[in-house]
Amino acid sequence: MKRVLSGLRPTGRPHIGNLLDALNNWRNLQDKYDCFFFVADWHFLTTAVEDIKNLPETIVDMVVDWMAVGIDPEKCTIFVQSNIKQHAELHLLFSMLISVSRLLRNPTFKEHVAELKLKELRKEKKKTVERIADATIERFLELVGEGFEKEKLKEKEYREILKVRLKESLLEGAFSIMGAEEEEISYGHLVSYGYLGYPVLQAADILIYKADYVPVGGDQLPHLELAREIAKRFNSIFSPVFPLPEPLLTSFPRVPGTDNRKMSKSYGNAILVTEDPNVLLEKVMGMYTDPEKIRKNDPGHPQRCPVFAYHQMFNKSKEMEIKEECTLGKRGCVQCKKEVAKAMIEYLAPYREKRNQILSEKKKITEVLKEGNKRAKEIAERTMEEVREAMSMWRD
Ligand code: TRP
Repeated sequence: MKRVLSGLRPTGRPHIGNLLDALNNWRNLQDKYDCFFFVADWHFLTTAVEDIKNLPETIVDMVVDWMAVGIDPEKCTIFVQSNIKQHAELHLLFSMLISVSRLLRNPTFKEHVAELKLKELRKEKKKTVERIADATIERFLELVGEGFEKEKLKEKEYREILKVRLKESLLEGAFSIMGAEEEEISYGHLVSYGYLGYPVLQAADILIYKADYVPVGGDQLPHLELAREIAKRFNSIFSPVFPLPEPLLTSFPRVPGTDNRKMSKSYGNAILVTEDPNVLLEKVMGMYTDPEKIRKNDPGHPQRCPVFAYHQMFNKSKEMEIKEECTLGKRGCVQCKKEVAKAMIEYLAPYREKRNQILSEKKKITEVLKEGNKRAKEIAERTMEEVREAMSMWRD
């Protein structure tokens, strides 16, 4: 049986985006392949080391939801990355097989850096604007002198002088903001050494199990490519230990968040797979809708509306009807939201039930992870034996 491996960072309980782009797919794969699904907790730390406190609870919470949607420990191996120390050893050895500049060129890294730079720039700008405001106020006080010469402000000439001087100070500040934009923002101090090596660790995750296929979203393809490069390099320098992993891309709809941006925990726009029905209803009622549709009878643009996107995913049988009504201005958004919330609550009900059932025998979850960790460790250690042998590492 061919082997499949994939992981998710423990960012919290899965949301409906995770369900549609990863978990449904994992569930389908477990019948056809020898599947390994794991919690990438070390990867989580590369950007969130200070959030480690509740990690054990988050990991359990996440795995419970995996099982609730049908990831079945009888059919696949579920494990926690940090429990398999062999990943760390292989990561270290792989880190010698890749250059720093290759890692700096990695698109995910570049995007992350661009975001950090933007944040820094905003911070800088804010500081500058504050400085301008302060300077302008100072200047104003200076110009009007000690006592506020209100009477004089009525004189046209006096007012003109005041205006010109204040304008000068504002312009000076504004120019300094524009200058900052062109300057190269340094970011090195904002990125950890561990984060640069993110894809090297991911390569170790994949190759240590000699995975044939890796189901991932398109954003992860550059990482998979890097894993293949490292495998080739290792195989050619030492001996052919690693098969080259292939991506398993699935086409899934982009799942918008409640504000129509990409659904993400960090944006606060996510709906959980096992969301409480009242919370779900509240989130849906507060959703973004087509801004051009203000009144009930205004014609809407379903393609631009995340509420309609949810109808397409969770209320498929009514999709056409809703689309037509909305486009013709025969459907109000409030009604539309209520309907989709109802459909989602029904669709997700079995997952919620299963979650509660699993939570009632919590011991079983620790058992599942223990079992999975054991199986993963055996395979990982076998590969490491080969690796150490191929590299002629020291042995006693
Ligand atoms: N980088 C992946 C993500 O953020 C998580 C991950 C870590 C992973 N190691 C992996 C995915 C190995 C697939 C295979 O989603």
